[in-house]
Amino acid sequence: MYRIAPSILSANFAKLGEEITNVIDAGADIIHFDVMDNHYVPNLTIGPLVCEAIRPLTDAMIDVHLMVEPVDRIVPDFAKAGANIISFHPEASRHIDRTIGLIKDQGCKAGLVFNPATPLHYLDHVLDKLDLILIMSVNPGFGGQAFIPEALNKLKAVRKRIDESGKTILLEIDGGVKVDNIAEIARAGADTFVAGSAIYGAGKDSDPHRYDTIVSALRAELSKV
Ligand code: DX5
Ligand code: ZN
Repeated sequence: MYRIAPSILSANFAKLGEEITNVIDAGADIIHFDVMDNHYVPNLTIGPLVCEAIRPLTDAMIDVHLMVEPVDRIVPDFAKAGANIISFHPEASRHIDRTIGLIKDQGCKAGLVFNPATPLHYLDHVLDKLDLILIMSVNPGFGGQAFIPEALNKLKAVRKRIDESGKTILLEIDGGVKVDNIAEIARAGADTFVAGSAIYGAGKDSDPHRYDTIVSALRAELSKV
């Protein structure tokens, strides 16, 4: 019922393949793949080539979070590179409905992402077409930022809209998710939890079991909900 999605943004990029197989072996469900363009957000990360390179390493879904503007041109490249879910920010697309259609035409699941100050009215006419709604609990661009509590109210509002729609839509939270707040976030309605620094920052690099410990701790909190 709950899915844990480590964000590889906080992984050790010098050994990315190992970092991915280790979190999946530790029981994580989804690989969250943060794409930043130094334009829509003030940081620059990874693109389709890296997605293609990690694709053979795991059967887990690759959840591509596009923080890029414009969106449409890069969508087919990620679909070809093996992305399963492609999410984008409504402010970064001139034609939101068209971008959702493009993602689905490429055979991927489509997600819409809401920044802390982005209103939910973007859901009004497209909710039925979405497979995932991602609520940002930090401003996008960097790992390791503090959780913005207002995101809990937003999650509750979106949970209600998803339940009323009767559709199967994942409700994902991204930013500042830790062992000490994941249960509260789940109670607000999230079912999919991105965690970057909480997972990849856990323990010492030399300890091969550190991901088992942190993923189990997150799951233990979720089991209390
Ligand atoms: C931020 C990214 C996040 C980030 C989360 O723009 O979208 O996925 O990696 O990192 P933590 O879990 O450290 O807040
Ligand atoms: Zn993200």
